[in-house]
Amino acid sequence: MEDILKVGVLTSGGDAPGMNAAIRAVVRTALNRGMEAYGIRRGYQGMIEGDIIKMDSASVSGIIQKGGTILQTARCMEFLTYEGRKKGYDQLHSFGIDAVIVIGGDGSFTGASIMSKEFDIPFIGIPGTIDNDLYGTDYTIGFDTALNTVVHAVDNIRDTASSHGRIFFVEVMGKEAGFVALQSGIASGAEGILIPEEKGQIEKLRKYLAERARLKKSSIILVAEGEDEGGAIAIANKIKTEFPSFDIRTTILGHIQRGGSPSAYDRVSASRMGVAAIEALIDDQKSIMVGLVNGEIVHVPLNKTIKLHKDVSRDLLAIADLLI
Ligand code: F6P
Repeated sequence: MEDILKVGVLTSGGDAPGMNAAIRAVVRTALNRGMEAYGIRRGYQGMIEGDIIKMDSASVSGIIQKGGTILQTARCMEFLTYEGRKKGYDQLHSFGIDAVIVIGGDGSFTGASIMSKEFDIPFIGIPGTIDNDLYGTDYTIGFDTALNTVVHAVDNIRDTASSHGRIFFVEVMGKEAGFVALQSGIASGAEGILIPEEKGQIEKLRKYLAERARLKKSSIILVAEGEDEGGAIAIANKIKTEFPSFDIRTTILGHIQRGGSPSAYDRVSASRMGVAAIEALIDDQKSIMVGLVNGEIVHVPLNKTIKLHKDVSRDLLAIADLLI
């Protein structure tokens, strides 16, 4: 710990509600532990360009309830190259920053893991993505808020769908994962859930449409954007030709899922993980993610979070099927 005097914090990849609560926790814990805290703006892009600001306790006041990220974020291609990472390291060095906290998803952790080895500088990851698709943690910052946003939107769609007797295909985010679709599907009583992790759902949907959909006032089919059939529009078109008597509509929820004031759960979890990240540095951790498993803080090697795949819960899949 005696080596770490100046810690940088950045947000990277897609933003997620609760990132500000995590930034606040990192900055305040670092200051309370006698370190200096630096905000690195626009993720790795800002690191490369030296867009770095010193932060004090007041600089993170009034942000815990705000969506997005006050530090802004980016998906930085240059950081994928050694030359890019070297530029980033040189900037950190010139500010005297000797450890970095990265709030983001697996792409962000890949860069952190490589740079931590190349330049022998500690990187601690905090899982932040609405997709919840990171191995080693039950939960990522932003997932809970995004779920609530989706459920609220689907409830609204349900009102109009029932009034008109329609079938709605609703596309939600998750380019490689179906966590948002599965859990919001259960929470909104969806009649079908199509996700990339589970094959054969389209056949179940056809069976439902043929045998049971006419008994209901409306049907909502939740589609994860990364689902195999090509997304909600493609599936809806296919189903329209197969079942021409149904009145079908499609809604793509898009980026409204990423914004908004974070839920209490996201704020508390982000605060816990922000504190845990600084405590991990003090405990001499060098290349780990702090996560939450069964409600407890865990440390997981960054390279494991990148290499290993987190599967959706089989129990939840079974529950979704049973309740349709
Ligand atoms: O990685 C999170 C995520 O929200 C995905 O679910 C989605 O496909 C992607 O980001 C969209 O990213 P962008 O805002 O860069 O288009």
